Amino acid sequence: RPRVLSGIQPTADSFHVGNYLGAIRQWVQLQDTHETFYSVVDLHAITVEQDPAQLRRRTRVAAAQLLALGIDPERSTLFVQSMVPAHTQLAWVMECLTGFGEAGRMTQFKDKSVKGGADRSSVGLFTYPILQAADILAYQADAVPVGEDQRQHLELTRNLAQRFNSRYGPTLRVPEPYILKSTAKIYDLTEPTAKMSKSSPGGALDLLAPVPAMVKKIKSAVTDTGREIRFDEAEKPGVSNLLTLLSVFTGSDIPTLEAGFEGRGYGDLKKELAEAFAAFATPLQATVAGYLADPVELDRILLAGAVRAREVADETVRQVYDKVGLSV
Ligand code: TYM
Repeated sequence: RPRVLSGIQPTADSFHVGNYLGAIRQWVQLQDTHETFYSVVDLHAITVEQDPAQLRRRTRVAAAQLLALGIDPERSTLFVQSMVPAHTQLAWVMECLTGFGEAGRMTQFKDKSVKGGADRSSVGLFTYPILQAADILAYQADAVPVGEDQRQHLELTRNLAQRFNSRYGPTLRVPEPYILKSTAKIYDLTEPTAKMSKSSPGGALDLLAPVPAMVKKIKSAVTDTGREIRFDEAEKPGVSNLLTLLSVFTGSDIPTLEAGFEGRGYGDLKKELAEAFAAFATPLQATVAGYLADPVELDRILLAGAVRAREVADETVRQVYDKVGLSV
């Protein structure tokens, strides 16, 4: 079976529907066809300041959400990044292969450091994409299911793998991005041309937030001029985003939804989306609470995941260190 690796940061109290549609839904489906490794990437989270107790709690809530959303620990290796030292061991070698200018062209650093300015950002934030490359390469992943915003990091990962292989001989698999076009970028409800993100919670639909508050957010979502309900990202970004969400939560395709909404207004679209979201989030929240109520079982799952992840990633580190002339 081909291998998959992906990761998600535990930097919020809840995942949002962008995380789910852009990535986690694909993670769940790929379990049927691939050997899958999924990580809660807490080392990435500390590239910006985190409160220790909150980080530890959010890491567990993240794992509980992945389980509740359908990651099956019998079929997937689900683990916490900081429990597998191979990631940082490999990251150092990858940092030594990355040009300073090459790292400087990564747009995430520019975006995330704008407020404080680059001088006040951590070096960890600067090297973030290289640790991400190490995450992927450590598992010899064939495919990496992510949202559109990760494309540049995957390009760097491919370049580093190729560079390593041409310098030291074939060692690392060159991974392909796995980005589903229809849900690769979910937009903010209050600003439908911006990506939904954890850092602008005003327009994010959080899976674990109180459902009535999320229903309210859906009902006040920014729509577009005109009254027609039709999928048109250029002319109607707000309506198109709502249609994408409704399509996923109901399983109806967009043309079917468009036909069903003919002659009806934006209010109807929002009402149906609110109902579909509530029907999804309410049982999900109960399942997450169930996992969190049994910390011994959650620990068991994450320890078993780490043991399995270490086996695979340690082997890559061994090969890489050997090729480079390091001692193992
Ligand atoms: P993170 O934690 O920001 O997001 C997790 C996943 O959610 C996707 N995503 C979205 N997809 C569609 N629309 C949106 N509005 C949206 N917002 C977020 C992201 O693309 C991502 O797939 N750097 C990664 C974490 C990471 C990783 C890795 C990923 C670390 N190591 C190795 C893959 C492989 C990140 O910040 O994701």
